[in-house]
Amino acid sequence: METPSIDIQNIRAQYGNTYLLEENLPSTNPFTLFDIWFREVASETGLTLEEISPVCVSELRPSSRMVLLKDYTPTGFSFCSNYSSRKGSQLDENPNASMLFYWPKVNRQVRVEGVVEKLQDEKAVNYWNQRPLSSRISSKLSVQSEVVPDRQYLEAKRTELIELAEREGSHAITKPDSWGGYHLVPRYFEFWQGQSDRLHDRIVFERDVDVWLLKRLSP
Ligand SMILES: Cc1cc2nc3c(=O)[nH]c(=O)nc-3n(C[C@H](O)[C@H](O)[C@H](O)COP(=O)(O)O)c2cc1C
Repeated sequence: METPSIDIQNIRAQYGNTYLLEENLPSTNPFTLFDIWFREVASETGLTLEEISPVCVSELRPSSRMVLLKDYTPTGFSFCSNYSSRKGSQLDENPNASMLFYWPKVNRQVRVEGVVEKLQDEKAVNYWNQRPLSSRISSKLSVQSEVVPDRQYLEAKRTELIELAEREGSHAITKPDSWGGYHLVPRYFEFWQGQSDRLHDRIVFERDVDVWLLKRLSP
């Protein structure tokens, strides 16, 4: 496979500015908060229930979160994060991981399972330098997954780094050692194609040393 023809590294979602602040939380009961979020997504996004009800299920006490795919190559799938985050510590302890892609418009799901390795620092620096200054500032100030007193604490750190960049130039916002890339090297793929009669197609590829064994699974 050649490098991807789509420039995924430079795709940037605009997340907006809807803050989640302790003092304005609509409920301090997590079930009620989930209910409020779910209803808001249903009523305000124009998404259908079919679009918002799929949920990624993980078992054996793993923990899941979304990241942005930065690259896929013939050896695996890369994403960037903070090595000292919760996921970073979990991956240090156990590098086995899975990724789940779900593309509802085409009724496709791809499951990838394998072992995660850290990307070479040179590549991580490259990704870091492609990020907008505001994203670099936010990542540099954040000890990801650490408990912080409030949003103001983070905003104050951001102001300090904005001032530093204004004084010394944006190159002063260097990549912290704790920020870098991960590369998931797959040993298992499953491609799922949904069918309207629910007799879905599931094609699995499992690595056996250096060949991929193909199997069909019952839906
Ligand atoms: C759409 C989306 C994209 C995200 N992309 C990233 C990412 O590329 N890297 C990252 O570290 N966190 C990303 N996050 C935040 C993570 O889901 C997560 O909150 C964060 O990495 C901390 O996870 P941890 O405490 O389990 O380590 C993203 C979240 C969403 C919803």
